[in-house]
Amino acid sequence: MRENFSNRFGVLVAVAGSAIGLGNLWRFPYIMGKHGGGAFILLYLLFVIVICLPIMYSEMVIGRRAQANAYGAFRRLAPGSLWTGAGVISILAPVVILGYYSVVGGWTLKYMQMALCGSFGRRENLDGLFGGFISSPGEPLLWHLGFLGLTALIVLGGIKNGIEKYSKILMPALFVMVILMAARAITLPGAGAGVEFLFRPDFSKLNGEVVLAAMGQAFFSLSLGMGAIITYGSYMKRKENIPRTSALVVATDTGFAILAGLAIMPAVFAFGIEPGQGPGLVFITVPKILAQLPLGGLFATVFFAILAVAALTSSISLLEVMTTFLSEEFRMGRKAAVAVSFGVIAVLGAVASLSFDPDMRLILFGKSAFDAMDYFASNILLPLGGLLIVLFTGWRMPRAELLEELSAGGGFRLGLFRAVRFLLRYVIPVAIAAILLGNVF
Ligand code: TRP
Repeated sequence: MRENFSNRFGVLVAVAGSAIGLGNLWRFPYIMGKHGGGAFILLYLLFVIVICLPIMYSEMVIGRRAQANAYGAFRRLAPGSLWTGAGVISILAPVVILGYYSVVGGWTLKYMQMALCGSFGRRENLDGLFGGFISSPGEPLLWHLGFLGLTALIVLGGIKNGIEKYSKILMPALFVMVILMAARAITLPGAGAGVEFLFRPDFSKLNGEVVLAAMGQAFFSLSLGMGAIITYGSYMKRKENIPRTSALVVATDTGFAILAGLAIMPAVFAFGIEPGQGPGLVFITVPKILAQLPLGGLFATVFFAILAVAALTSSISLLEVMTTFLSEEFRMGRKAAVAVSFGVIAVLGAVASLSFDPDMRLILFGKSAFDAMDYFASNILLPLGGLLIVLFTGWRMPRAELLEELSAGGGFRLGLFRAVRFLLRYVIPVAIAAILLGNVF
């Protein structure tokens, strides 16, 4: 018997928990900062609605229909065909992503500990602090293993009683924190330039690379294009309404990203930080904002603690993909499956983490190993996975089956269904292929 999510709220919390994470608070601000702000955001919103929402429907449909892990799902719905290739990507992508995701997760734990010890208040040079920490060889590695270990423990314990329960309290708490920080950031002197950066699109900054980055960010933030939502879909009961769940998750995740932008960018400009400076953006900016609030040290501790939890609810969805795959396809026990996954990802994470060490200089394709893994996974593997997924639900799955899955638990208007299927068959595949090819040639 496969485990199921207990109820509608449980499903929502789990899927939203997967979607909301470092992608919103860490990745979105720095990628958007690097690619010029407002115009990037508009593109991002377009991709979320036109491409990603229908892909989320598709992944849940595939998972629930097949009742199997992400690889097994394709095998079961299309036996003996090349579609299993889509299954392979679905398993490969989360391994690469979790490799560096757990490194950043480790950073959040370290920052939580530093905030707890009051280390920010005495420091002026927060960029130096961040740079020094991530480029040291040993310490970030230990925090990475710690974060990965926590993820493994939760996955071992199953989802219902662990993370489902905590997410219900912690996600709303994170929401409140981010609103508070946005309010502080917007009222800082000199914040106007940041708000303008976010909301006044400068279309001269658009090019193929920005378009690809916006699409990659949309996939990453919504956990799409690989096995995560397929796997979670396989735990959904028949009475759950897929379109409604998807819409709620997409709306919350996007709201969170915009709020994070509002919390970070005005402060970046007010403090004269370089918006395109890369993965350290949030870790440098947030302690500065919080230092401007009464009880700043306390807030900083709470913020990084909750961020770590948000990261955990996402990283478990990544580890879960590989674990379920190993245990179902290779008949491994859950413990063994978690142990194997842990080992593989610990090594990949070490590569990502050590690429910040100037003595190691692990460079792949002209990028640091960390950046290369992120770029390859988010901008190539996820869109490619998404492409195969929509081709599957658009062309391979019988129309009646798709309609049945989308209508279960509430009904889906026929006109809407036709529009979605049109997107799945024509618009989305052409758009993804064009953006991918446009960047290769
Ligand atoms: N969406 C998560 C975040 O924004 C990260 C994540 C979890 C993810 N599962 C995923 C990204 C699957 C891509 C695919 O932090």
